[in-house]
Amino acid sequence: MLSHLLHLEGVESVVIEKQSREEVESTVRAGILEQGTIDLLRKTGVGERLDREAEIDEGISISIAGESHRIDFAKYTGKQVAVYPQHEVLIDLIAKRLSDDGELWFDTEVVSIADHESDNPKVHYRTADGTEGVLSADFVVGADGSKSLARKLITDDGGLRMKHEYPFAWFGIMVNAPQTAPELIYATHPEGFALISTRSENVQRYYLQCNPDDTPDMWSDDRIWEQLHLRADSDTVTVSEGEITDKAVLRFRSAVTDPMQRGRLFIAGDAAHTVPPTGAKGLNLAMADVCALAPSLVRAVKKSDTSLLDTYSERALPRVWKTQHFSYWMSSMLHSVPAENEMSTLFQTNRRLAELSTVVTSDAGRQLLAQQYVGWDFPSIEAL
Ligand code: PHB
Repeated sequence: MLSHLLHLEGVESVVIEKQSREEVESTVRAGILEQGTIDLLRKTGVGERLDREAEIDEGISISIAGESHRIDFAKYTGKQVAVYPQHEVLIDLIAKRLSDDGELWFDTEVVSIADHESDNPKVHYRTADGTEGVLSADFVVGADGSKSLARKLITDDGGLRMKHEYPFAWFGIMVNAPQTAPELIYATHPEGFALISTRSENVQRYYLQCNPDDTPDMWSDDRIWEQLHLRADSDTVTVSEGEITDKAVLRFRSAVTDPMQRGRLFIAGDAAHTVPPTGAKGLNLAMADVCALAPSLVRAVKKSDTSLLDTYSERALPRVWKTQHFSYWMSSMLHSVPAENEMSTLFQTNRRLAELSTVVTSDAGRQLLAQQYVGWDFPSIEAL
């Protein structure tokens, strides 16, 4: 998206991607798009397939021990979300960049980044056949994921990496089954959390809270169905069953890097921050980062004015923290966590359920959740 935004303003870029195009396009990922992400894709000419194929949701259900509460996004915010997985967004963006003659170097690994404190930073890369080369540029952006090489240059040089680990994880399955319900269900139960999501009419994505060190072999099909029904069935909904085609454990982590820049090097998306999956914010936050970054880079390249770039981190971080808070808040309200003894566990559980009940049974609470779920306005990408 950053490369696409720069291109629209006449600024050249090269995208270096370690994986092959096929790997990027076929790795199935989650994807709830905030209103801001939907608008951005449409506005920049990459929303056509999204408009044709994505399921648009105007709410979610929160199920508390079988009692369902709907959070109506349309009513509280006038906004919607789209169920359109990340890899589909990538397929559309890659096709667009290639049809615009964009430089996307797949199967190419970045070995190191150098001289980012000078006016002429360099990226040392290696292609799949072992050929090495050096690319020099005016600016380098590390959008290289949670194990970011670019981030290390910032944290090795005094940048902060603030972190939180959660005492639970998600066990995720992919199922060939009809849709359970028209909207996502976030369910909590004394046995733990469950999420009923979807990939298409015939493919469903379900998650169960599990222990961080659980392995897929600890979850037999019988145990999965028993737990999904126990945690997520309600008066009106029965989780649909089918052939399970994939089982995986997802770790829960939060992390924020501050600052998100050093000299002529900038980081965006998971390279800069990680959110747990509960609020489905990862892709959306990355999109908001690049909306803050793109106009600043355009101004720097076209007008030799780096004043906006200098404030990139300051402008991006408030949204990063609000999103961290939302993902943490949703996670902590919906997951059960054993405490040191039975009475303490019961205290924590009842307090947590009272918080959740306060949120889902009042207009103020439902609105607060809805506003955060659909997302705040994006930074403006209007040309400067
Ligand atoms: C998913 O469909 O994988 C998904 C949906 C919503 C979330 C997290 C994951 O909050």
